[in-house]
Amino acid sequence: MTRRLTFAANWKMHHGPLAARAFIDRFLELVPPREGRELWVFPPAASLHVVADAARSRADVKPGAQNVYWEPKGAFTGELSVPIAREAGARGGLVGHSERRHVFGETDEDTRRKVLALLDGGLTPLLCVGEKLAERDEGRTEDVVLRQLRAGLGGLDPERVSRVMIAYEPVWAIGTGRNATPRDAAAVHAVIRAELGRLGATGRSTILYGGSVNLGNALSLLAEEELDGVLVGGASLEADAWAELVGIGA
Ligand code: PGA
Repeated sequence: MTRRLTFAANWKMHHGPLAARAFIDRFLELVPPREGRELWVFPPAASLHVVADAARSRADVKPGAQNVYWEPKGAFTGELSVPIAREAGARGGLVGHSERRHVFGETDEDTRRKVLALLDGGLTPLLCVGEKLAERDEGRTEDVVLRQLRAGLGGLDPERVSRVMIAYEPVWAIGTGRNATPRDAAAVHAVIRAELGRLGATGRSTILYGGSVNLGNALSLLAEEELDGVLVGGASLEADAWAELVGIGA
């Protein structure tokens, strides 16, 4: 059976509509649909529609929002609702990315509301969890990841837990050039998977690793069966290099 792998590009605050269009056109030229491979792109909100439009003939390419607010509409200046994200072509949304948590103060309770809002709106949440360096050094990685997971998925019925994707992204590995070793990442993935099982997930949940993934380390990370794919920032910003990375091992 072909192994299912998910490659997710988190562009953060890069690539406006013009650059996004050029990127996707070039990327689709280079990357054929491949069995078992799902390719998510999380562009800035203003580029979401352009990405969705350029990729509309490709079921394997899924646009997603980098962040959403939980209310469906109203007086919330500057926020992106799930219905608007969906209308712009989003199929899912990131929740609790480390930069949202640690730069913008997103709380565990916020992540729970956002996960719920995405599920209610028919979109796939990609809930990000991960420990800071001090927490790792204190041996608290599992505690932190489990707390974030339980908080983000609190009260969901099992069918809904099964629809959530998770990204394990150690904060100290994001944008630092220092990735978790494949074995360390796999160990945390196993802890996450066991907890998802306790929360009622059926079937195999998709758990991605993120944090300084690049062409040089992706193959060894993905050699770990526990990893169902990768969530990539810096190394996803250039179309040719990203095309090469999503084809790795194919
Ligand atoms: P990075 O970012 O690949 O640049 O470390 C990953 C992320 O923030 O999702």
